[in-house]
Amino acid sequence: MRTVASYLRVIIFLIIAFYIMEFAVDSGEQMAIEKYPVIWAVLGIALLFMIAIEISIEALKTILYKSMKPDAQKLYDENVAKEREKQFATLKAYYKKIVGGKPIEEEQEIILDHNYDGIKELDNDLPPWWVWGFYATILFAVIYMARFHIFSGVDQATEYEQEEAAAQLAIEEYKRTAKDLVDVNTVVVLTEASDLKAGKAVFELNCVACHKSDGGGGIGPNLTDENWILGGGIKNVFKTISEGGRDGKGMIAWKQNLKPAEMAQVASYVLTLQGTTPAEPKAPEGEIWIDPDAPKENPEEKLIEQATDSVVVTMN
Ligand code: HEC
Repeated sequence: MRTVASYLRVIIFLIIAFYIMEFAVDSGEQMAIEKYPVIWAVLGIALLFMIAIEISIEALKTILYKSMKPDAQKLYDENVAKEREKQFATLKAYYKKIVGGKPIEEEQEIILDHNYDGIKELDNDLPPWWVWGFYATILFAVIYMARFHIFSGVDQATEYEQEEAAAQLAIEEYKRTAKDLVDVNTVVVLTEASDLKAGKAVFELNCVACHKSDGGGGIGPNLTDENWILGGGIKNVFKTISEGGRDGKGMIAWKQNLKPAEMAQVASYVLTLQGTTPAEPKAPEGEIWIDPDAPKENPEEKLIEQATDSVVVTMN
């Protein structure tokens, strides 16, 4: 005589056990049960225990029942039946109410007088749950119309734009605070005046001794011409500053002294020197650098350009 209650107990027990596991076990973003599949086993064993307990209780009940005198058994049965009746009485009443419909005995009153091969039709009222749902949609429509078409509420398109703008702000904010996360793979040319100013300050403090304040070059090469020994473009320049030049040439790796953000700033500043005319320019060294990522408008033109480039003399 297994009852609904014992099934319910087992299920509720399992759900509680599951949540306790999820809360107690630290599994980061993932669910604990995903991260530690052993939890399945723990829950499985707990389930077996719970079933065993329920079976024992039922067995005990049966034994006790058998040991009762017949009239005591009758009294017990009656009590159980009464309990059953009362169980979920309010729920059952509520269910009847929202489903509506006539009881079978009164169907005669609503039967329609047509008949298809013995199949007859009842003229039931609409079920209350359906009617209430319908009224709810009308109410929803009225509120919706008033909010969005009369009082100009924020519609989805505007909401989207607002969130987009907020996300843009968040990205800007992140970029500002996360500048030091740049490395040679993620570095891009900085164009903001504040960055270039900071880059200039770094340059004047650390680099002018060898590259001159106008970038014309001295111990170090000219930074204003198109020629690069170690490659042009923000990534190469960043890498040269970060890792240093070739051994024994005098350009040290600056990553010990400068923060990644400062290296990105000074690299961007160095690139702004391109095409300026320094007072005493050092002769070009290295090769004219062509950005491999630059959009090639006309492949043929590009080929000719490359052919002329390769004539450039390399001197070290
Ligand atoms: C002690 C002198 C010295 C200092 C200080 C110095 N450099 Fe250099 N730099 C050099 C030399 C020498 C080279 C050439 C390296 C080589 O040929 O491998 C060079 C190369 C470079 C290059 C590559 C040029 C090319 O043609 O590929 C860049 C960019 C550069 N330096 C930027 C900087 C910046 C920015 C600073 C300051 C943070 C700095 N340098 C400080 C001596 C110096």
